Amino acid sequence: MSEPVVLGIESTCDETAAAVVRGRRLLSNVVASSMDEHARYGGVIPEIASRAHAEAFVPVVSKALADADMTIGDVDAIAVSAGPGLAGCLAVGVSGAKALAWAANKPIYGINHVIGHIAVTQLQFGPFPPDTLALIVSGGHTSLLHVEDVARHIDVVGTTLDDAAGECFDKVARLLGFPYPGGPHIDRHAQAGDPHAIAVPQGLTQGKAGREHPYDFSFSGVKTAVARWIEERQDRGMDIPVDDVCASLADSVATVLARKAMRGCEQYGSRTLIVGGGFSANSQLRAKLLEVGAEHGVEVRVPELRLCTDNGAMVAMLGVNLVEAGVAPSSPDFPIDSAMP
Ligand code: KG4
Ligand code: ZN
Repeated sequence: MSEPVVLGIESTCDETAAAVVRGRRLLSNVVASSMDEHARYGGVIPEIASRAHAEAFVPVVSKALADADMTIGDVDAIAVSAGPGLAGCLAVGVSGAKALAWAANKPIYGINHVIGHIAVTQLQFGPFPPDTLALIVSGGHTSLLHVEDVARHIDVVGTTLDDAAGECFDKVARLLGFPYPGGPHIDRHAQAGDPHAIAVPQGLTQGKAGREHPYDFSFSGVKTAVARWIEERQDRGMDIPVDDVCASLADSVATVLARKAMRGCEQYGSRTLIVGGGFSANSQLRAKLLEVGAEHGVEVRVPELRLCTDNGAMVAMLGVNLVEAGVAPSSPDFPIDSAMP
């Protein structure tokens, strides 16, 4: 099989998505989101998201196949996110994918969503050079990973000890009155603000005692400091300089992410840094990473926006990697794992 064709299915959170990848070529990419239904609750409601997946699954998968000019018989394998994510949401996508694989007699791979965020960059930048590092930042995870072999072995270099970066932005955004998800609103306002207007602490600049490496992240203190600053001013009836708050927060988070990523690249001798996850859409982070990457001689691979957020292409691309590496498909009873490491 020279260029495997894989159908990827994604349902970890509020996006029902499917895509077809042949080798390193994206043939189709369909995403349906239930985001609008969650906005008024200030966060994703698992029950609503699961129901939306059940409704969208067949139309989204059908469209992904049709856009690729294929039927299910034309694909070599099906890949589906088995975790981490919301259990009810995962159950819908995995059950649908298993039914499809069973009916069409195709091999199925239950994959790790976070590794999908790494794999997807190959569609834009090609294969990984040796000793590639990946910074995956989203609403639920902030991880620095060493990509030894994307199909078989990924090392965790550092991870978040409390809030993920996206979570921190979303919580501050709520205090500022922005609808969920607040990250993009902070991004927009930050572009008009002064990043040095407010002293925001930089989360966990040193490694925590007892951990071997200084690459872990902590954004809970950052969030609390900004929240306290806002609330104190609100209590005194003072105006909140929204643009400056957003710019200062964004600068602090981007600076610490970029610094630790570069320190990791030095430690591992990496000349390539892959960036992924919903938060990698953040313009302050993208700019900061490109800047420090140029200083350190590290090629920073930040994918185009539609590949940063959750999609089926990331799942299909990782599926292709697994097929190419000769990894055995998952057994028909493979479980979902909402806390997959
Ligand atoms: O990877 P993703 O789509 O879903 C998860 O797996 O969590 O990431 C969503 C997160 C949210 O916290 C959202 O606020 C954040 O990514 N986000 C942003 C931006 N776009 C999305 N945060 C800051 N700036 C952005 N432009
Ligand atoms: Zn994600």
